[in-house]
Amino acid sequence: MFTICYVSSARSGITENDLNELFSTTQHYNASGNITGILLYQSGKFLQVLEGEEETLLNLYEKIEQDSRHNNIFVILKQKCKRRIFENYKSRFSIVKSKEELQTIETYLNQIEDSPNLKYVKGLLEPFLL
Ligand SMILES: Cc1cc2nc3c(=O)[nH]c(=O)nc-3n(C[C@H](O)[C@H](O)[C@H](O)COP(=O)(O)O)c2cc1C
Repeated sequence: MFTICYVSSARSGITENDLNELFSTTQHYNASGNITGILLYQSGKFLQVLEGEEETLLNLYEKIEQDSRHNNIFVILKQKCKRRIFENYKSRFSIVKSKEELQTIETYLNQIEDSPNLKYVKGLLEPFLL
């Protein structure tokens, strides 16, 4: 099992239509690729968590990295992991912010405890954890 988590900045001028299209592609593809996680958009920033098979994720990430709808990608985690944390959220790639979902994100973020720049990383995530 592998996971990737990053934050990025949306391209300026991105519209609600663009976002809806992006969310629906993501939801559709990730469900069929057995990828779990979450994609959040807030104040011009994306936060994404992907969990799945290593090769699938690395291939997908190559595409995501080159997507002109965002830039300034800052990778928070890109590593093997023991298990899925978003197991029950397979198709929840959306802007939904239920309490349950936020708890799952916090559990996920406990994995980054040994990051050398943890304080900086937590600062990046703060706007998404309202
Ligand atoms: C912030 C962001 C997150 C994305 N996340 C995913 C994703 O999780 N799954 C996905 O299939 N595409 C995602 N995409 C879209 C991909 O970059 C790409 O457009 C999509 O996979 C279709 O690629 P293809 O037409 O080459 O198959 C994301 C794009 C952006 C800007």
